[in-house]
Amino acid sequence: MMNKRVTRHILAGFCLCIASFSAASADFDKLKNMCMACHGDSGVNPYQSIPDLRGQSLVYLRNQMFAFKSSERKDITMSKVAQLVSDDDINKLTKFFSEQ
Ligand code: HEC
Repeated sequence: MMNKRVTRHILAGFCLCIASFSAASADFDKLKNMCMACHGDSGVNPYQSIPDLRGQSLVYLRNQMFAFKSSERKDITMSKVAQLVSDDDINKLTKFFSEQ
C-alpha cells in the first residue's frame, strides 16, 4: 500500500517534469521562429537593415544579445527582443545561429 502510493507520487513527479520540459522547448521554438522571421531560417536574410547571424561566432552573438539586454547597445527592435528572452534562451538561440 505504502509502496504503491510512493510509486504513484514519483510517477506524477516524473510526468510533471516531462510536461514542463516540453513546454519549455515549445517556447524555445516560438522564440527561434521570431528570430528567424527577421534574421532568416539559417541566419541569412534578404533585408538590408538586418544583419546576417550565420557565420558569426557564438561569443560575438552572445555578447551582442547581452549588450542589447543591458542597453549597452541600443536598437529600437533588438533592445526589446533581448529583454523578452531569458539568459538561458539567449545562450541556446545564439548557439543555434552560430552553428548554421
Ligand atoms: C523585428 C525584427 C527582428 C527580430 C524579431 C529579431 N531581430 Fe535581431 N536584429 C534585428 C535588427 C534590425 C538588427 C540590427 C540592429 C542594429 O542595427 O544595431 C538585429 C541585430 C541582431 C544581432 C546583432 C548582430 C550583429 O551583427 O551585430 C543579434 C545577435 C541578433 N539580432 C539576434 C537576434 C535573436 C537571437 C533574435 C530572436 C530572439 C532576434 N535577433 C530577433 C532585427 C530583428
